[in-house]
Amino acid sequence: MADVQVHDKIFTPFITATQIQARVAEMGAEIDREYAGKKPLLIGVLNGSVIFMADLLRNIKTACEIGFIRVSSYHGTESTGSVKSVMGLSDDLSGRDVIIVEDIIDTGDTAVYLINEVSKKNPASIRFATILFKPAALRQQIRPDYVGFEIPPAFVVGYGLDYDGLGRNLADIYQLKS
Ligand code: IMP
Ligand code: MG
Repeated sequence: MADVQVHDKIFTPFITATQIQARVAEMGAEIDREYAGKKPLLIGVLNGSVIFMADLLRNIKTACEIGFIRVSSYHGTESTGSVKSVMGLSDDLSGRDVIIVEDIIDTGDTAVYLINEVSKKNPASIRFATILFKPAALRQQIRPDYVGFEIPPAFVVGYGLDYDGLGRNLADIYQLKS
């Protein structure tokens, strides 16, 4: 497989589409085993999760529903640091078994913020699924429940992940060439 250029940077093949598809099939089967008799609600985090969500969904046989949210972060004052807000979160999550679906957990800040926001809506349960996890970059107390691949803390694109808006449509995952 060849390197790709996204904007000004060169990325090298890292995880193939074939490897991703095999792993996502396993994750779907795991969710099926753990949610038998339930009707989970998968909540995807836009934009990065769209590809993973579509693939994961097709690998879940249990009846389930989906929704999408968007997180925006902006820099507040120095005292508040980085402030986040969430758009599109349903008010009606009470009693639901929610699975948050993300593209990647890096520092874990977004994941922790989302889990807090979702828990305010009184769901029956909350779990977290991500295709990629960079444990070395983590600065929050969080362990995602479903992880596609644990990866080193290098920047990646493809399979929904972008570099400055581009690269999401690559079927494979690529790593920034050093
Ligand atoms: P966190 O809050 O630091 O865990 O960051 C999560 C978000 O940062 C993800 O949803 C991505 O949008 C973005 N991100 C983190 N690492 C990468 C990467 O390697 N490539 C592309 N986006 C990334
Ligand atoms: Mg994201």
